[in-house]
Amino acid sequence: METKTAKLLDGKALANKIQQELSAAITQLQPQKGRPPGLAVLMVGDNPASAAYVRGKERACQKVGIESFGKHFPTQTTQAELEEVIAALNHDQRVDGILVQLPLPNHLDAVTLLHQITPDKDVDGLHPVNLGRLVRGEPGLRSCTPAGIMRLLQEYDIPLQGKQAVVIGRSILVGKPLALMLLEADATVTIAHSRSHSLQSITTNADILIAAVGRPGLITADMVKPGAVVVDVGINRVVESSGDSRLVGDVHFESTAGVAEFLTPVPGGVGPMTVAILLQNTVESYSQRFHS
Ligand SMILES: NC(=O)c1ccc[n+]([C@@H]2O[C@H](COP(=O)([O-])OP(=O)(O)OC[C@H]3O[C@@H](n4cnc5c(N)ncnc54)[C@H](OP(=O)(O)O)[C@@H]3O)[C@@H](O)[C@H]2O)c1
Repeated sequence: METKTAKLLDGKALANKIQQELSAAITQLQPQKGRPPGLAVLMVGDNPASAAYVRGKERACQKVGIESFGKHFPTQTTQAELEEVIAALNHDQRVDGILVQLPLPNHLDAVTLLHQITPDKDVDGLHPVNLGRLVRGEPGLRSCTPAGIMRLLQEYDIPLQGKQAVVIGRSILVGKPLALMLLEADATVTIAHSRSHSLQSITTNADILIAAVGRPGLITADMVKPGAVVVDVGINRVVESSGDSRLVGDVHFESTAGVAEFLTPVPGGVGPMTVAILLQNTVESYSQRFHS
């Protein structure tokens, strides 16, 4: 008997396509605007994973023609110092997007800092004004990871209307905004979390199953409805018995690939889409500023 294998939702390829489109849009806009779009990524401390993400974002900016105003602060930087930096960036005419790389060291209050970013430069879509616009279904800057997932589903013509979508995870960064976006697309949405009873009975109902948890291999083949679309948001570094480490998602890829119709790889699925939407939000903010 032939073994079934899920088709891959290739976030890396789509992210490259989006970057090319953005690069062309910037080339067209820049002569009228007199400057390139600008993105400021603020990082505090030396969390190696955060440093790698920031480098990836800066490389992507360079590739499409967005100027980076990245700032790297020592761990002991105070809340007041960061608030001052954000206030200056809010008024900096060269800057269209401001992003605070999370997590921050414990002595800093991330929520207060995110609230200081002016909503029209909030390219991470985490300011209450932009989250409120999402709740109301109004246009606004949308959180990058959930918006990237929606764009990936759209690219592969995955129907959402009337479908059962299950989101595992309820963070403000991924789970909650994604659930709202799926609702906006007329899916019937269930959100599961660490207190949900019998996760398997919830996940096996899902036509679209999205895992945003941070637990390697949480979702196994027996938790997936045959023919489902499975999106793996998790990024977990696991150490092999050989001592080498590798990145895995929340979904047990090998077994789930035999049951699902579509599946995102880790790496190469949701991760590159997050960066692509960050760039897209920056260019959107840039073009809006231009027209205002
Ligand atoms: N690919 C990307 O671009 C990207 C972007 C962002 C995040 N991520 C990754 O996505 C994962 C989630 O990130 P996050 O920021 O949303 O994490 P988070 O803030 O830690 O949230 C995790 C969520 O998972 C739920 N959860 C924990 N254990 C569970 C279990 N056993 N069963 C069901 N639900 C459980 C938690 O429930 P409670 O609310 O009840 O605690 C929480 O809602 C992480 O691996 C992160 O690295 C990837």
